[in-house]
Amino acid sequence: MSSDPFNLFARCLTKARNCGLAEPTACALATASADGRPSCRMVLLKDHGPDGFVIYTNLDSPKAQDLKENPRAELCFYWMPLKRQVRIHGTVKPVDEATADAYFASRPRLSRIGAWASRQSQPMKTALELEKNVVAVTARYGFGKIPRPENWSGFRLLPESIEFWVEKPFRQHHRVIFRREGEGWIKERLFP
Ligand SMILES: Cc1cc2nc3c(=O)[nH]c(=O)nc-3n(C[C@H](O)[C@H](O)[C@H](O)COP(=O)(O)O)c2cc1C
Repeated sequence: MSSDPFNLFARCLTKARNCGLAEPTACALATASADGRPSCRMVLLKDHGPDGFVIYTNLDSPKAQDLKENPRAELCFYWMPLKRQVRIHGTVKPVDEATADAYFASRPRLSRIGAWASRQSQPMKTALELEKNVVAVTARYGFGKIPRPENWSGFRLLPESIEFWVEKPFRQHHRVIFRREGEGWIKERLFP
């Protein structure tokens, strides 16, 4: 097994991309408020490597509020066809503006419109409310450039530990955790 957890993660994700999953980058993001109330939801990983693991969201959403109050978070991937789980624990920092702008510009036009139209996690009186917002945003920008909303950006999770779990027969699963130590990583096996 590689001694570089980023390399190992990249190899797992490549395998996941090659096994026909609809959303191989889907992962659960666990956060906690300043007073310790946990919450967890699915997000899509948009970048990864030694600089961290990047997700994007609405900055007024409950998850973003949690991350502002308490930057500790965990991402958990489970790729059922591979029988593998990866957990990435660390602290987040905001993605810089230029990176967020570049990623936003790469999204399909309707997704960019959606980012303006959805007040993520706010109560919506009728289903029509979202559709009306989509129509209004579409009319506002016409065929012009759609800028990134100020309240839409990303977080970069800087890992302190990355754990790989691989299913084995009779619950004798393989678990290896990499813990950051200085510039390097300490690798340790765990009981399953
Ligand atoms: C497969 C999947 C991927 C998702 N990806 C994202 C994402 O990348 N960013 C996001 O803000 N919400 C994403 N969502 C929606 C979130 O799970 C969640 O419902 C929403 O962000 C509101 O979360 P919050 O109220 O905890 O902030 C995704 C949902 C699913 C099922």
